[in-house]
Amino acid sequence: MSYVGFIKTLCQDYLTGYKEPKVLEIGIHKGQTALPLIHNLSLFEGFTYMGVDIHVRSLVLEQLAQFGYVSLVNYDERSGRDVFLLEANSLHWLEEHQNLDSKFDLVLIDGDHNYKTVSKELELVQSVIHPRSLIVCDDYNGQWAEKDLYYSDRDDYKENKRATPSEESEIQGVRSAIDEFVEAHDNWSICTLGSFDPAFLYRNDVWDRFEFGTDSPVGEKRLNLARNLRLGLKLKNMR
Ligand SMILES: C[S@@+](CC[C@H](N)C(=O)[O-])C[C@H]1O[C@@H](n2cnc3c(N)ncnc32)[C@H](O)[C@@H]1O
Repeated sequence: MSYVGFIKTLCQDYLTGYKEPKVLEIGIHKGQTALPLIHNLSLFEGFTYMGVDIHVRSLVLEQLAQFGYVSLVNYDERSGRDVFLLEANSLHWLEEHQNLDSKFDLVLIDGDHNYKTVSKELELVQSVIHPRSLIVCDDYNGQWAEKDLYYSDRDDYKENKRATPSEESEIQGVRSAIDEFVEAHDNWSICTLGSFDPAFLYRNDVWDRFEFGTDSPVGEKRLNLARNLRLGLKLKNMR
């Protein structure tokens, strides 16, 4: 699935709190999220988009190469309006970047859809974010909510050496990993909108209010064209 329907709202109601937002997307696929997201990011003074996928498709690269005011790292000179497309396994990449100086404001998790990977990603992501950062996990309400999918088992990924080998697990699914993370961490809360796929994770010791509002009929999968989805946010008064 993708986060389409939420991208503009996340950019306008959340990322505008940052002068030069930094976004990490795990799982780029055909760029259904990356392309509109990078368009919105290109409206900021500066930005960093870091996409990590075990298979970076040339289709995405080719389309991004046509974006104005955006530097495609490794093809263009860096400009502070930078797009990185990295062919890597999210778990390896996160393990190798645990000491990043500059933290991501938004992390989108939509790579391998199984309990073990998402559990590990949620744990590793903690070192690359700051307290105000949001984590958005796709497929919380999707078909892999309680059932594991390993991309390495898919025919089109059989030869992909970066794909994580599948493992049997008693507990399965994306939602199981997310619920377990939230239960284990008192300072993290979860927000969903009706039966839409993504789950929004935020620090409840930092955000006083975090809720979506829309006039669209929630429950019908019609948000993709919704123009009135708002994210109500308020930071806690902190000294
Ligand atoms: C559901 S698609 C992502 C869709 C995308 N986020 C969007 O909104 O259009 C999942 C992607 O995750 C990638 N993937 C699978 N396992 C991964 C892993 N361990 N690390 C990084 N990417 C992975 C797959 O190659 C695939 O492109």
